[in-house]
Amino acid sequence: MQQDKTFYITTPIYYPSGQMHIGHTYTTVAADTMARFKKLTGYKTYFLTGTDEHGQKIERTAKEAGKHPQEYVDAIVEDTKKLWKLMNIEYDDFIRTTDERHTKIVQKIFRKLYEQGDIYKSEYEGQYCAPCEAFWTQTQLLDHSLCPDCKRPTELVKEESYFFRTSKYQDWLIDYIEKHPEFIQPTSRANEMLNNFLRPGLQDLCVSRTSFSWGVPVDFDPKHVIYVWIDALSNYITALGYGTENDELMRTFWPANVQLVGKEIVRFHTIYWPIMLHALGLPLPKQVFAHGWLLFGDDKMSKSKGNVAYPQPIVERYGCDPLRYYLMREMPFGADGNYTNEALVNRINADLANDLGNLLSRSVAMIEKYFDGILPSPTGYEELDNSLIEQLLALPQKVEIEMDKLQFSGALIEIWNVIGELNKYIDLTTPWILGRDESGKPRLKTVLYLLAEGIRFVAVLLQPFMPSTPKLIFEQLGADDSSLHTWESLSSFGVLQGGTRVKKKDALFPRLDVDKELKELAKASEKMFEEPTQETEEKEEKSLVSIDDFDKLSLRIARVINCEKLEKSDKLLKFTLSLGDETRTVLSGIAEHYKPEELIGKKLVLITNLEPRKIRGVLSEGMLLSAASKTDKELSLLTIMDDVPDGSYIS
Ligand code: MSP
Repeated sequence: MQQDKTFYITTPIYYPSGQMHIGHTYTTVAADTMARFKKLTGYKTYFLTGTDEHGQKIERTAKEAGKHPQEYVDAIVEDTKKLWKLMNIEYDDFIRTTDERHTKIVQKIFRKLYEQGDIYKSEYEGQYCAPCEAFWTQTQLLDHSLCPDCKRPTELVKEESYFFRTSKYQDWLIDYIEKHPEFIQPTSRANEMLNNFLRPGLQDLCVSRTSFSWGVPVDFDPKHVIYVWIDALSNYITALGYGTENDELMRTFWPANVQLVGKEIVRFHTIYWPIMLHALGLPLPKQVFAHGWLLFGDDKMSKSKGNVAYPQPIVERYGCDPLRYYLMREMPFGADGNYTNEALVNRINADLANDLGNLLSRSVAMIEKYFDGILPSPTGYEELDNSLIEQLLALPQKVEIEMDKLQFSGALIEIWNVIGELNKYIDLTTPWILGRDESGKPRLKTVLYLLAEGIRFVAVLLQPFMPSTPKLIFEQLGADDSSLHTWESLSSFGVLQGGTRVKKKDALFPRLDVDKELKELAKASEKMFEEPTQETEEKEEKSLVSIDDFDKLSLRIARVINCEKLEKSDKLLKFTLSLGDETRTVLSGIAEHYKPEELIGKKLVLITNLEPRKIRGVLSEGMLLSAASKTDKELSLLTIMDDVPDGSYIS
């Protein structure tokens, strides 16, 4: 294997402000697939991912949860690492912006840029969107005040700040982008950057803040923390040891080959990041690739909007390979696409169970039936065979071409074209007729050999996409030897040896009942991520508490103004409640026990000082009390004997 070819790929570092969802998983699976593909084709690869842990948003979110930011992010990072393990992600390094190896070097980078005059101190006044951590100019705002990305209100911020003299590099960057058409992909994104940001004129970037403290302090002016993008973008080089004595990785892998980003952060990666690197005297990444969004309904999935799908329930039901396959197959990389459970289940049935799974099980079953499970050697090829062999031999290069364009779906389409041809080959050669008598056996040997070797080609190429499935295929083909799994083993046809024993096993992907799966998936995701309701909470005797503990709860009478079923949920009712002086929205998981209309006008008992929780995009501000039997079968909402005004206090 040539190890002089290197390949460095990165994902954005994700905000650990909430659990990672399918959107983050999409980018990470893409990077992992690409890294595995490059490894397969002989590259020495390095794959970096991580978390972007500083900033006002994290500071606020942690505070709301009553935790120190570090404690808050530590827990999410742990879950994130578990999720990547579940998705079979093999990163080489996971960088956290709170790592000392990172913060020290970020300070050094900031100081260097300051000392060479690229960073200067001034005063900032502008519209700031805290959830997006972004400043916007008046012309960029929607309706004069809304953030153009998330459409939420921005706030006017005025403070002493350090600025990065990005305007100085504007002409250089325009020239660089024009001369390096491969630098920003897809090309439409390069045009967007040139036309919307660079050509109209770059404003210097505010790179420090004094209004919050959860960040890397400027070491020579510690009331400032380094604004999150300088901190965040540096991760791609601090992880390689940039600025330290131990910078061998930097020397080996920088510049990165591909940096993957979602389309909303292209601006930071193709304008500020290149300028930063250039100012530091470093070469630019060879490519920044902006992929599209996985939409949920018509909207971008987002933790803060609550309209998300999570990988865990899916992986629990089907394993991670089908989800990885779906993510890489469903939409061209660069375009937006909708995530639906239905499309996922349909793909599993059509592509995995039918096309791939059946091809393997039919082929292995026939080798067992006609040759006692021993793979026959071919007896000579006919025109039909040669044409298929040619297609198999051409496949690796076709896949490589697509992968080099980051067209994962294109690569999978090429592989599935050949799977289709192999299935067609079975129909054309009719092995069940050849197997009827001895005269058909020589031809049958060739047919079954070609199928087995063809499936091996497919399995080798599927390894980067689906790390577990090819192993199961090799096992059934009796192709356990690792030399049969390599890219090189695809340079000639006929590597699999006749005489090996095949082993029929369970179907790779059992066919799914779509309706049943959709119900189960909906149930599973509800169960995993919803606030525990009265039904799921433990009904054990609790230990004694003091009256002071009890006093901490605020219990009030709430009148039901409106009640309806929450869309797409079997369990949740959405209440609008009057407390006299205010109206609250509260979700309660009691839809199986009450019809919404029968509750309107009822006076119920509400805990009003519980932390509000967002469930399915709706902020639930309190909890209704009910009594339930141990099995949860019987449940009754608590109400009062005589009428009292809305909002009355319970003690
Ligand atoms: N912390 C910044 C990035 C700093 S990189 C130096 C950030 N973090 S994030 O948590 O918001 O993650 C953004 C990235 O997650 C996107 O760029 C994209 O790669 C991925 N995605 C998050 N939601 C997504 C979808 N719904 N669809 C596709 N990708 C999505 O921005």
